[in-house]
Amino acid sequence: MGIVIKGTGCYVPERVLTNSDLEKMVDTSDEWIVSRTGIRERHIAGPETATSDLAAQAGLRAILSAGITPEEIDLVIVSTVTPDMPTPPTATIVQRKLGIPPCMCFDIEAACTGLLYGIDLVHGMLASGHRKTALLIGGDKLSGVVNWTDRSTCVLFGDAASALVIQVDPAAGEDFYVAGEISADGRNAEFLKIPGFGSACPPTQEGIVQHLNSITMNGPKTYQMAVSAMSSACRKVLDRTGVTPEDIRWAIPHQANDRIISSVAERLGISERIYRNVARFGNTSSASIGICLDELNRSGQLKRGDLVLTAAFGAGLTWAAELIRW
Ligand code: ACO
Repeated sequence: MGIVIKGTGCYVPERVLTNSDLEKMVDTSDEWIVSRTGIRERHIAGPETATSDLAAQAGLRAILSAGITPEEIDLVIVSTVTPDMPTPPTATIVQRKLGIPPCMCFDIEAACTGLLYGIDLVHGMLASGHRKTALLIGGDKLSGVVNWTDRSTCVLFGDAASALVIQVDPAAGEDFYVAGEISADGRNAEFLKIPGFGSACPPTQEGIVQHLNSITMNGPKTYQMAVSAMSSACRKVLDRTGVTPEDIRWAIPHQANDRIISSVAERLGISERIYRNVARFGNTSSASIGICLDELNRSGQLKRGDLVLTAAFGAGLTWAAELIRW
């Protein structure tokens, strides 16, 4: 008996915000954004759309791709830094929208590393034998927590959700989850954060004016830590499993910045078979790796048994690398 990824899905809102649109909003240029980040456009949700709407669409597509019914799902986890509201959990709102019967539903928050944290969590929960079919979603409406007057951050992010149906399969010989290296170091929590409006800094009128409810970031520090954390986590996973870079069918790093992706690829010695779509979506936080998996899956570029190496980093600093057998 094994545990398998049975289906994938993703959803991005229709509206596209290009670099030339951003040129009209802040003092930036297409040339600067492309050369520093590789991003050309991102999708932005309207004010009527909540994270649960993006998540439910992605979840529905994963359910259809898995060929299961919502009734079969007995665990829903949503990874997000932009929940619909502080409580109830966004996972319960997604559950209602998809008609999933009563079951364990909760949110996790590990910033852009959230989907990989979720995979490890789901795998452990299914392995315990108490649940059979999980819907794991990474979804964020980052446009709602971006300061659209700050050129150093507003060019980086986009809105999206992605989803995986992960299921216990009595017919499968082995688990999809080969190995993971998952960690965090809170000493670096100051480099990337939304300083308000949680319990440490409650909402005030003045806080709104100061954009305390928006992402602030030390870009260069985050960049350096991202490259070293993702590379060393990948290296540990490869060393532990005896898998070589040549054995990897696809490497999927978190899609935050093309230059970060290239640096990690170079350090690992995997110059080809690195999946990239940051140009089309920007940084979509915990949706990012699931979008890549869904695109590869739907385009037939993943075959049963292929090894996929994923890696992510995010605020905290959180990071992870996971080796998956498709
Ligand atoms: N357009 C034009 N100029 C800009 C822009 C812009 N959009 N943004 C910044 N600049 C300017 C700066 O003001 C600075 O000007 P100065 O030299 O006159 O002061 C200059 O460009 C260089 O700024 P740096 O920040 O040093 O630029 P850098 O090459 O480091 O690139 C970037 C910045 C793209 C943000 C990079 O540091 C990066 O990608 N860091 C990682 C960010 C990231 O991935 N964050 C997501 C984390 S995941 C999560 O959990 C959300």
